[in-house]
Amino acid sequence: MRTLIYALFIGLMSVTSFQAVAASGGVHLDPVELDLSDKASLQRGAKTFVNYCLSCHSASFMRYNRMAKDIGLTDEQVKTNLMFASEKIGDTMTIAMRTEDAKKWFGVVPPDLSVISRARGADWLNTYLRSFYLDDSKPMGTNNTVFKDVGMPHVLWEQQGYLSHDDETGHLAHDSEGELSNHDYNTMVSDLVNFLAYIGEPSKIQRLALGKWVLLYLFILFLVVYPMKKAFWKDIH
Ligand code: HEC
Repeated sequence: MRTLIYALFIGLMSVTSFQAVAASGGVHLDPVELDLSDKASLQRGAKTFVNYCLSCHSASFMRYNRMAKDIGLTDEQVKTNLMFASEKIGDTMTIAMRTEDAKKWFGVVPPDLSVISRARGADWLNTYLRSFYLDDSKPMGTNNTVFKDVGMPHVLWEQQGYLSHDDETGHLAHDSEGELSNHDYNTMVSDLVNFLAYIGEPSKIQRLALGKWVLLYLFILFLVVYPMKKAFWKDIH
């Protein structure tokens, strides 16, 4: 019996680890810790998103006013800091770029990022945004370790600088420095991934917050019910 349990356990482990490798195409992924209750991180992520991503990618499942409420900002703060003049607070996060133009410029249309965190996973996104490297053979001059021949330029190059790729070892190293240290750049990216995870499943914030109250309720209920159970059964033993 014990051998059977061991066999099942090992079988299960190998299936899950195989899936992790398959999802990344065999490349090691940099893990990221998400914290949807960290409002400051979500706000920093939102700022990076609207400044550096929202010109090409929409997030059309997300409305500005819902985002404001969820990440702890007022409508006014969102309007002045995170929106362009022509949009209204109840609008979804769309972009002005036309599909035909996008095709012409990048060869592909930048996908909507509303649910990208669910499609790709947070660790993949974290790695993707940290792993653009110089490659002269590509139209954008860059390539990416987890998205081979990607059509997206390295939009955060000013912050990260440029990396070069050692074809033999697969290692990345700085070719030129950016404005941010490695540590600060990684924080910028993890905040952005935190934000992308939030827009992928906005109601999770409420669910997590509600969960605490449910547990507290169950605990108090237990304090009441347990003495009651004792009282009911005391004559039976
Ligand atoms: C200049 C336009 C442009 C900007 C700005 C831009 N992207 Fe992209 N992005 C693209 C294009 C084009 C693709 C499609 C690449 C392909 O399919 O080869 C893409 C692809 C992606 C993908 C992969 C989607 C997939 O197919 O799984 C992710 C994730 C992504 N972008 C995230 C971001 C984030 C986050 C930002 C902001 C830091 C950003 N992008 C900024 C043009 C852009």
